[in-house]
Amino acid sequence: MKNYKIISLNKGAWDKSEGFDFINDFNRTWLKLVREKLKDNGTIWISGTYHNIFSIGQLLQELDFKILNVITWEKNNPPPNFSCRFFTHSTELIIWARKKEKVPHYYNYELMKQLNGNKQMKDVWKLPAIAKWEKSCGKHPTQKPLAVLTRLILASTKPNAWILDPFAGSSTTGIAANLLNRRYLGMDQEEEFLEISKNRKLEIENPKTAELYRHKIQGFTTKKELELFLAKEPTEEYGSELIL
Ligand SMILES: C[S@@+](CC[C@H](N)C(=O)[O-])C[C@H]1O[C@@H](n2cnc3c(N)ncnc32)[C@H](O)[C@@H]1O
Repeated sequence: MKNYKIISLNKGAWDKSEGFDFINDFNRTWLKLVREKLKDNGTIWISGTYHNIFSIGQLLQELDFKILNVITWEKNNPPPNFSCRFFTHSTELIIWARKKEKVPHYYNYELMKQLNGNKQMKDVWKLPAIAKWEKSCGKHPTQKPLAVLTRLILASTKPNAWILDPFAGSSTTGIAANLLNRRYLGMDQEEEFLEISKNRKLEIENPKTAELYRHKIQGFTTKKELELFLAKEPTEEYGSELIL
């Protein structure tokens, strides 16, 4: 046990439950707002814990999105369960949906297959939890690893696509987007998180740091696979838009 530290699993203040009606109303309001901003061929990715993700799944259908996949992100290195009274939490769910039933979305099938040893990429992604080097600009309590955001952005956007994250936190979405030559708009209600986001952005403005991070992101078979893929992407493309 000496390699583990017990940490509080309390969520940030924004995650504290205020009842089902409140959660559903809040989710319906923001989903309607982002739907208006999404291109007709755009897609949306939403991650959440069991407190919220089932409400999101239901509302996406109520608002006429078409659910494409529910990804299970299986962490290679989850923290142990100290109570020993139930299973170790080691997964998170991420819903992927498109705006319209009948308007096709973009999916980079070939790249996803390549990243899975030339077999179709499954909806279970084995990727590590956040690494220390990703927290170089300060701590956000629920920061996601770049590996997860990188995969979903590569799967569903073309170069220069606009990506919006209305719950940006430390802007992992934005950092992944910019490292992959996509554009990003993020927002958060907490100034301290905007500060972390700004510093993360400044950090990757140094091309050497950006290159180093591209090498460190997990989920690729070799250190340079991501860069080699990006070098082959057209520079002008402006595909579907994405909302997280
Ligand atoms: C789960 S965190 C996002 C973490 C992010 N993916 C990252 O990797 O850092 C959700 C964020 O949403 C923000 N948030 C919650 N409610 C909000 C609201 N009504 N308006 C804007 N931001 C909000 C919180 O401050 C928090 O930083």
